[in-house]
Amino acid sequence: VNGALTDTRGRALRDLRISVTDRCNFRCGYCMPREAFGRDHAFLPQGALLSFEEITRSAQLFLSLGVRTLRLTGGEPLLRKDLERLVAQLAGLKTIEGTPPDIALTTNGSLLRRKAQALRDAGLRRVTVSLDALDPSLFARMSDSAITVHEVLDGIDAAREAGLGPVKVNMVVQRGINDTEVVSMARHFRHSGVELRFIEFMDVGKTNAWQRDVVLASDAVRARIAAEWPLQPAEAPRPGATAERWAYADGAGHVGFISSVTAPFCGDCTRLRLSTDGRLYTCLFADRGHDLRALLRGGEPDDAIRDRLTALWQQRSDRYSELRGRAPAAPERIEMSFIGG
Ligand code: GTP
Ligand code: 5AD
Ligand code: SF4
Ligand code: SF4
Repeated sequence: VNGALTDTRGRALRDLRISVTDRCNFRCGYCMPREAFGRDHAFLPQGALLSFEEITRSAQLFLSLGVRTLRLTGGEPLLRKDLERLVAQLAGLKTIEGTPPDIALTTNGSLLRRKAQALRDAGLRRVTVSLDALDPSLFARMSDSAITVHEVLDGIDAAREAGLGPVKVNMVVQRGINDTEVVSMARHFRHSGVELRFIEFMDVGKTNAWQRDVVLASDAVRARIAAEWPLQPAEAPRPGATAERWAYADGAGHVGFISSVTAPFCGDCTRLRLSTDGRLYTCLFADRGHDLRALLRGGEPDDAIRDRLTALWQQRSDRYSELRGRAPAAPERIEMSFIGG
């Protein structure tokens, strides 16, 4: 084996993004707009969710195929009851190199003050917190929730105090909505040890009314920051990373740019997604998943499932972001809150 599993474009399988719930206590307009995710929205019933045991078994199978990083996502992953119990189970697994997996979490931060220490104790290594604005009323409008910016910032502090670092912050930038916050966000996180990443608004799912002119290209975001504080290119932490990194020339730290629209990074995309209900998606923009849950619940032995997973990856050819605009988008795109960012 030795990590030799590759897809039709020679890309290895390295990261498994696991969505643990399709629910969220926020209603960000670019992800779960309240018009589409209102009171009567049917979330998955409990029995449809993969259990912690099923997730752990799946993770072990993927680790045996060369996966190194397990990232927990949602919806809001901290809404899943006893998530630290899952983290503890995953932390007990091994990669093919014999090392423990790198376990990460992407969260909106609202429950971090309550959960950070227990997650860290269970074996979580790092967290990324989504935060789109510092201005209280803009934040409230964008997240469409009663949670305050203060609570999210306090969640970030809690993560750092618990040793869940270095913490990253994700800001989805939308022109005309929160692009006025770019410089103030940069200023806030300079010298803090937190790596702020600016994300181009993506056309995921079909409910967020994506329009090209709402995307603010990373080059423009970077220029606004560099006009205040000069930046110099920095090395990517690892091949296949989503973010391009830059360093403040004055030593104030790093910022990242995730440019799925203007500079797609499909070429070395090593990510596979496992949805809350146990479907596998070989791309964030896939229109259909592969039912792993049926195999897990159908009494298939590990070896048989591993063969199916190997075949699935070997057949993979996705590169949606590279083709964006040239190939028609699939009509049935999956929502991000379901597939897990
Ligand atoms: P690290 O690099 O390990 O810190 O995490 P990450 O950037 O892979 O994950 P994170 O959950 O922080 O995602 C950051 C942004 O990148 C989000 O907007 C994701 O939706 C987006 N993203 C993550 N993976 C992919 C991908 O494979 N394709 C595209 N187009 N976007 C992705
Ligand atoms: N475009 C870009 N990023 C998005 N996210 C959610 N929806 C979108 C979108 N349409 C981000 C979240 C979170 C990460 C998992 O994905 O803000 O930081
Ligand atoms: Fe919830 Fe994150 Fe989606 Fe916002 S982006 S609605 S916090 S899952
Ligand atoms: Fe990977 Fe699909 Fe994202 Fe391209 S668009 S980087 S193939 S998940």
